[in-house]
Order: sequence, then C-alpha cells, then structure tokens
Amino acid sequence: MKGSKLTGYGYYVPEKVVSNFDLESKMDTTDEWIFSRTGIKQRYIARDDETVADMAALASKRALDMAGLNPNDIDCVIMATISDRKDFPASANYLYAKLGMTNNAPAFDVKAACTGFVYAMHIARAYFAAGIYKRILIVGSEKMSQMLDWTDRNTAVLFGDGAGAFVFEASEEGDGIIASEIFSDGSFTDLLYADSGLVKMDGREVYKHAVRNMSAVGLQVLESAGMRIEDIDWLLPHQANIRIMASAAEKMGFPMDKVIASVDRFANTSGASGALAFAYAAQQGLAKPGQRILYTAFGAGLTWGAAVIKI
Ligand code: ACO
Repeated sequence: MKGSKLTGYGYYVPEKVVSNFDLESKMDTTDEWIFSRTGIKQRYIARDDETVADMAALASKRALDMAGLNPNDIDCVIMATISDRKDFPASANYLYAKLGMTNNAPAFDVKAACTGFVYAMHIARAYFAAGIYKRILIVGSEKMSQMLDWTDRNTAVLFGDGAGAFVFEASEEGDGIIASEIFSDGSFTDLLYADSGLVKMDGREVYKHAVRNMSAVGLQVLESAGMRIEDIDWLLPHQANIRIMASAAEKMGFPMDKVIASVDRFANTSGASGALAFAYAAQQGLAKPGQRILYTAFGAGLTWGAAVIKI
C-alpha cells in the first residue's frame, strides 16, 4: 500500500497570554481549582481581528518552510476546526487564499471537534493509499475564545486558541501515518455542543467517555499497526485535561514520562491541540526524527480516534 512521510510541522499561538490568576478577576474561580482539576496554568487568546484562518496560515507557513515547499506544491488542504465564525465557506478556503495558493487544490474542513485532526489524518492516509494526492497540508486551528461564555466558569477556564500544521508527502517507505482509526457515537451529542455559538458541556460525563475511549482506541490502533506499547516513543493524548491524559495513559500501560503534555501552557485548543502539542514538543527537542508517536483524541460528537505516526 502507498504511504506518506511527515516532512514538515509547525505551530502558532497568539501573543496574549491569559493566566488562571487573570481569570480570578473575571469569574468565581481560582488558580488552585483550575490547576488541580485540569493541569492548566494559562492559555493563549487571539486578538479580536485574528481569525481561525490567520492562525492556520502562520502555522502552515512554518510547516511548509520546514518541508521546503511552496504553498502551490500542496495538492490538498484539510483543516480541522469547529470555531470559525463563518458557517461557510470552509475555513480551509480562507487558508488557501491567505497562503496565496493559486493551483486550485481542493480545500475543505473536517468538523469532528477535538478529534478533527485525527479524522483529517485518517482521510489523508486513505488519499495516499489510493495514490490520489502527493502533498497534503493538514491544519488544526481554533479560536475557542470566541465560543465561550466568559461568565461560565464550567467551560471558560478549559480552552485556548492556537494552530498546528503537518505536511505529509507521498513516499515509498510509507510510514508517516502508519495506522489510524476513527469512531463516533451520535447518541451523546448532548454531552458537549455549541448552542447559539457558545460551548455547553456535561464535564463529568465527557471525562468518563474520554478516558475510556482514548485508551481503547489507542490500543486498537496499535493492534492495527501490528505494534506494542514498547514500539512507541511518545503518547500524544488530546490535550484537554492532565487527569484525563494520565488516566488514559495508565489504562494503556504508558508511563507518564513518555506522555507529551503541554496542556499547562496551551489549555484545550480542540482540533489544533494534537498538532500544536506535537510541534511544540519537537521544537523543545523532546520528539525526535525516527521516533514513533501514538496520537489519541476524543471530542464532541462524541468522536474519538487514534493514529500512529513517525517523525
Ligand atoms: N472554578 C471553581 N469551581 C468550579 C469551576 C471553576 N472554574 N468549574 C466548576 N466548578 C465547581 C462546580 O460548580 C462544582 O461545584 P458544586 O459541587 O458546588 O456543584 C465543583 O467545582 C466540582 O465540579 P466537578 O464537576 O466535580 O469537578 P471535576 O473534578 O469533575 O472537574 C472538569 C470538572 C475539569 C470540567 C472535568 O469534569 C473535565 O475536565 N471534564 C472533561 C471536559 C473536557 O475535556 N471537555 C472538552 C472535550 S474536547 C472537545 O471536543 C471540545
């Protein structure tokens, strides 16, 4: 089967940092509560005039530079996002324009909340396997801050803004996206959704599903890759809450020192979270070329999925 290689990655976060202490003056909460329940210390918040596509373009340019490619070398753009203010066209169309693309490559969004980036990689893997595209740009970008009721302490403290991007190129070795699995269960749409543009959530129920599904799908994708835990260098769980990440890692038998975690710094950036955390970890010298990453995610829908990728 034809495959791909990860040739570039990058992330972008807005300039403005909002700490838990900053939130104490806006709502009835404390740094102690937020940090002990979620592991979050701060989040980045976009400017009013900064869009989902603006952040996506900045992350994409870094990924393209690393891959040594021009935007017009890309023959398919897939974007994971749920937080754009425009219902249509797709955020990926705005990204195409912001990157200065002129080659008429297809560009579309995947709306699978925090699992969106895994869904996008699964689609890209199928395109590579079928030999349809040669260079695919996958971007997760979210401006969650515009979807929050800043008086609702149950949700506002959890999320942040940012973007992450991967460039995959067709390759004979074919081990960029080694395996991937995606799932959904629409009987739980009421646990996490946006109503009139604002996030609504049953946190406790989401928590339980998250631990169960992320650990199960992580083991499932390892099986489909023909691998064991020992074959994986890093576990990259969706960066929602350090307790969820630790419980899922424990259930899968992963030691915490092999878990990529930057939720303290970025909070939950939904569809951007995996790529952002990965690119940040690589920049910090944690994840290195040749290593294998098990990326697991869950989100509204409910949706969940996992992928094994090689740097
Ligand atoms: N500050 C202070 N107190 C708070 C805050 C806050 N920010 N938020 C809630 N509380 C209160 C609650 O009102 C509750 O008070 P009560 O007992 O008087 O009613 C109390 O704290 C305890 O609430 P719990 O729900 O028991 O707290 P828990 O330990 O479960 O943590 C949390 C809550 C952090 C939301 C957790 O349930 C969680 O992380 N759930 C998963 C959420 C998530 O990851 N969502 C994103 C999914 S991904 C996507 O697709 C977008």
